[in-house]
Amino acid sequence: MNIHPKSATLSIPETGAIPEHIAIIMDGNGRWAQSRYLPRVEGHRRGAEVVRKILIACKDRGVKHLTLFAFSSENWRRPPSEVALLMKLFKVMLEREVSKMHAAGIRFRVIGDLSRFEESMVKMIHDSEQLTAENTELTLTIAANYGGRWDILQAMRTLALERPECMTQVQEEDLRPYLCMADAPEPDLFIRTGGEQRLSNFLLWQLAYTEYYFTETLWPAFDGEELDKAIESYQKRERRFGRTSDQLREAAIEAREAIGL
Ligand code: IPE
Ligand code: IPE
Ligand code: MG
Repeated sequence: MNIHPKSATLSIPETGAIPEHIAIIMDGNGRWAQSRYLPRVEGHRRGAEVVRKILIACKDRGVKHLTLFAFSSENWRRPPSEVALLMKLFKVMLEREVSKMHAAGIRFRVIGDLSRFEESMVKMIHDSEQLTAENTELTLTIAANYGGRWDILQAMRTLALERPECMTQVQEEDLRPYLCMADAPEPDLFIRTGGEQRLSNFLLWQLAYTEYYFTETLWPAFDGEELDKAIESYQKRERRFGRTSDQLREAAIEAREAIGL
């Protein structure tokens, strides 16, 4: 796996730029359905259609990485019938959508603990990842049976196995290559639909300096216009990473002078 050289906490993206990496907690499917007297599963079906639309919208806007929380390690606590339907929807997506994504130049990845998934599903995931591995338009990462704490722990365990000598002095740079999102820059913009303002154990490590955007809009009602609102909000923010505004202005002037502007 290629390790992404950029960490948002180390390099400062330009203010006003399109976020290179957007991470989304797609929440509110159940409430969307229930408010229409529909079964919760109908909300999930509609939510899956929205994934397709938002993927294309992100690609059109020049976003390079889209990471979606589809199923958390805590979602197994839901009624078995709802869990089964979510698995089925994921399988249908793998069967029907991956070839379309490949044709559109999209790289497809899944992160999470796959040990609880059926063998046939794990094979489909690996085949899809392999098929699309060289695509460069946009990387879509689906977090399935994913938990941020699990991610940090699995990285620690692998590091301990591969480099036991560094464990007592372990640094961020040692751990980073073993985290699930090691080959992507950290998310610039985090969106959570559905009104809740929490992380629900999503990318805990990677969201350390991300800009957060919360909207009441339920995921099945989210669209390109809502995405633009989130991007606009992001573009107005000054990302300081601990520095002062004056320092950022000086750095911008120096950067312009360095390229003769
Ligand atoms: C998000 O919608 C989808 C998953 C967690 C799989 P929810 O199903 O959590 O919808 P609400 O929050 O109950 O409305
Ligand atoms: C979080 O949604 C995970 C996904 C969207 C897949 P939940 O709706 O399950 O989150 P909590 O448990 O209410 O925080
Ligand atoms: Mg929810």
